[in-house]
Amino acid sequence: MAQHHQGVSFPISHAGEGLFPPSAGKKRLAETSFRPREQQAKGWDSLWQSGENDLWDRGRPSPALIELLESRTNLLPAALKGRRSRALVPVRAASRKGCGRGYDVVMLALHGFEAIGLEVSAKGAETAREYAARELKSPQAYNFQDQSAGPAANPGSVTIIEGDFFAREWQDALVRDGVESFDLIYDYTFLCALLPEMRQDWCRRIRNLIAPTGSLVCLEFPMYKDLRAAGPPWGLRGVHWNLLAEGKDGIIHEAAEVKGLADGPFERILYNKPARSYDAGRGEDMISVWRPR
Ligand SMILES: C[S@@+](CC[C@H](N)C(=O)[O-])C[C@H]1O[C@@H](n2cnc3c(N)ncnc32)[C@H](O)[C@@H]1O
Repeated sequence: MAQHHQGVSFPISHAGEGLFPPSAGKKRLAETSFRPREQQAKGWDSLWQSGENDLWDRGRPSPALIELLESRTNLLPAALKGRRSRALVPVRAASRKGCGRGYDVVMLALHGFEAIGLEVSAKGAETAREYAARELKSPQAYNFQDQSAGPAANPGSVTIIEGDFFAREWQDALVRDGVESFDLIYDYTFLCALLPEMRQDWCRRIRNLIAPTGSLVCLEFPMYKDLRAAGPPWGLRGVHWNLLAEGKDGIIHEAAEVKGLADGPFERILYNKPARSYDAGRGEDMISVWRPR
């Protein structure tokens, strides 16, 4: 199997807490996070344009998601009659400088999904399209845990859309093409990159996009980070539960004990520590699977 780097983390804006020494790029990401909400998209795009997108690159598709796809098929949407399952990955479009990637979108297609990646930056979307074209032609071993499972004999498709997750235009265009909703939505490092005040809208938007029988899969990161520390990435321990299970605003300063019944918009059907995940999670990443209520 080819060697792939991993462990490249987000910059962290608090002294002493980052995995890397301070750099201009990290400062720029911190600046992006403190922009007002309406200027966030522009801030991300400027990081892509200046080649600083490698700050959040993990170098390969998610080992935790691959494990889930290959071993917990009972928790995931089955292929529906007459069509493939559809997956949406908000902004899993990462790149190393000079060599673009869209890791999980392609990996999902290689596992049979009609996979759609959504990215607000034109440069980010273009980079992901280039990676997808190359990778689908000649998939690397890192797309599969069970090597006998791949490359898939009958892969699905990849579509990379340039659009703002919170805007309706791209969704309306998909609806016109007959795509009403998604059977699987995957989030890794999207929620933690948003301003905390945007979390409730993230939840509402996902509820609006997911099929009634669909699954939301979250690789929860960073779980090691103090909830009061600034991001991105913003610490998320307990945030998914607060937002999705309890239907609250996701702005918490202490992770409340997760217990009992909740009546928020999603029901959690799996919560565990994946056997394999990125080094950046420091062994604390959690994978959760949610069904709309
Ligand atoms: C921290 S990166 C994480 C990317 C990806 N999840 C990964 O693991 O590589 C955040 C990404 O979200 C994109 N982004 C930020 N806000 C967005 C929005 N409202 N809609 C779509 N993409 C957005 C940025 O351009 C950037 O590529």
